[in-house]
Amino acid sequence: MNKKYVIAIDGPAASGKSTTAKQLAKKLKYIYIDTGAMYRASGLCTIFQNVSLDDEIALKKMLDEINIKIEYAEEGNHIYLNGEDVSERIREADITKLSSQIAVIGIVRDKMVELQRKMGENGGVIMDGRDIGTVVFPKADFKFFMIADVKTRALRRWKEAKEKGENISLDEIETELIWRDKNDSTRDISPLIQAEDAIPIDNSGMTIDEQVKKMYSVIKRGSNA
Ligand code: DC
Repeated sequence: MNKKYVIAIDGPAASGKSTTAKQLAKKLKYIYIDTGAMYRASGLCTIFQNVSLDDEIALKKMLDEINIKIEYAEEGNHIYLNGEDVSERIREADITKLSSQIAVIGIVRDKMVELQRKMGENGGVIMDGRDIGTVVFPKADFKFFMIADVKTRALRRWKEAKEKGENISLDEIETELIWRDKNDSTRDISPLIQAEDAIPIDNSGMTIDEQVKKMYSVIKRGSNA
């Protein structure tokens, strides 16, 4: 596989995009770009700078000056917001909600899409998110759309939270996922939808290894076609 492809992975929250994307990127020696982390960092930036989501002028100024850097590390990417490592902070519950709220705003999406296109312009990237195959890279070489039923997704998130020592119930996680699914898929601009030419992967009953194998074989087959 000499060509450096752009691989898009979209799907709802906790559908296993990032875990799969990370492993696939490792196998292909590609760069993994987690675009959700960029919306999360933008949301956090509004808190740091005390910018209200309704204040378009302040939001525009914030976005004009924003610097989001993704550093690739074996143990997981580090996200820097204006020079500060915010990798852990952006995973907290308040930012999870805020990231979905800020993601409905047109000027925020325009800025993120511009940054994402720049990051992927030379190929050799796996980008995951909600609108990668539809808006960011509609001509991506490979597009996958990951789905899993909400109970499976909630259980996965709950296990992760437990491992991190967080005290949150399965019910709370499921409620948050349902809210976010709705918010992300019913917004006016670039809602979460499956691109027509995306390959759906329902991973409810699949292990990560099985998903990675399946996607890798699609890419390998496509690259020989
Ligand atoms: O993938 P994630 O859960 O980290 O994403 C956080 C939020 O960011 C998600 O609820 C919606 C938004 N998002 C988006 O609108 N478009 C993307 N490409 C990625 C994320």
